[in-house]
Amino acid sequence: MSEMIKIKSSRWKTIIPVGLVLFFILFGVYTLRSVGDNEGYSPTQPIPFSHKLHAGDLKIDCQYCHSAVSKSRIATVPSMNVCMNCHSVVKADSPHIQKMKDLIAKGDSFEWVRVHDMPDFVFFNHKRHIAKGVTCETCHGEVRTMEKIRQEKKFNMGFCVNCHRTNKDKAPITCNTCHN
Ligand code: HEC
Ligand code: HEC
Ligand code: HEC
Ligand code: HEC
Ligand code: HEC
Repeated sequence: MSEMIKIKSSRWKTIIPVGLVLFFILFGVYTLRSVGDNEGYSPTQPIPFSHKLHAGDLKIDCQYCHSAVSKSRIATVPSMNVCMNCHSVVKADSPHIQKMKDLIAKGDSFEWVRVHDMPDFVFFNHKRHIAKGVTCETCHGEVRTMEKIRQEKKFNMGFCVNCHRTNKDKAPITCNTCHN
């Protein structure tokens, strides 16, 4: 009888850890899968800012607002002062513009909801791509037609590696290019 229990418990000693490891692998794969596959994500922003109006109809250059994109790793979202270059006069009575003014008066600012967000284990660099002439549209789609910005493409590994492998500049595909 005690022999039986011993066999059982020793078997559980292997089954439990193996089960736990399997669980964490599956859970890990599940969470990794869900991050970059954010295709179509289009959260509601604190005020309805239209890329179609500003970048499309008014033809304001992307880099007027996303001025870091050709100089640094990140593109950055503009501060409200950039908006106020026009909106201290243009549509100054709009409730949305008024909301910005009130925030500025309080020394506060918007929390724009982040749309594109790579997991921490992937390294990305805007500057390097802009320098080689890769256009914003290649990765972000037709932003000039978007009333409300959304993630157009799945930023999975294939998306990045396929271009790195086939483009004329022979971008690197070693693992530590994008993972360290
Ligand atoms: C050009 C950039 C790039 C290169 C090179 C690259 N990866 Fe990735 N990798 C990514 C991106 C982007 C993801 C997706 C992240 C996500 O799902 O949000 C990813 C995801 C992964 C994942 C998570 C599982 C998955 O499929 O989502 C593993 C594991 C991985 N890469 C391993 C590697 C290995 C090993 C190499 C070298 C053979 C490599 N990567 C080369 C960009 C790259
Ligand atoms: C007048 C300023 C302005 C111009 C011009 C502009 N943007 Fe934006 N952009 C913003 C603001 C503000 C946000 C944050 C609010 C939002 O997401 O709608 C933003 C957000 C974005 C995002 C999403 C950021 C995230 O959280 O992932 C992308 C991508 C983007 N812009 C690309 C572009 C491209 C490409 C162009 C040119 C075709 C452009 N923008 C022109 C102001 C601007
Ligand atoms: C180069 C000038 C310029 C800049 C910079 C600019 N806008 Fe505008 N914006 C305009 C014009 C022009 C309109 C359209 C006015 C109209 O409908 O007559 C407008 C309209 C708007 C509207 C709609 C207002 C309403 O109630 O109808 C919002 C909201 C807005 N802009 C937000 C922003 C934000 C946020 C920024 C900064 C990220 C920004 N704008 C930067 C010129 C600008
Ligand atoms: C090769 C693909 C690629 C190109 C080209 C590209 N982007 Fe991005 N963009 C991304 C990725 C990937 C992210 C998410 C980065 C992260 O989460 O670390 C991103 C994020 C952003 C963001 C959010 C803030 C940030 O910096 O993380 C803005 C704004 C943006 N891009 C604007 C632009 C503009 C404007 C251009 C063109 C001048 C451009 N992007 C060109 C892939 C690209
Ligand atoms: C349309 C083509 C294209 C796409 C899509 C693309 N890349 Fe690139 N990538 C390039 C080119 C071209 C370079 C520049 C190589 C050079 O500077 O010689 C580059 C460079 C890089 C570098 C810098 C490499 C170095 O030498 O340090 C990183 C990191 C990178 N890419 C990551 C990514 C990630 C992550 C994605 C996916 C979100 C991505 N790229 C999508 C074309 C692309």
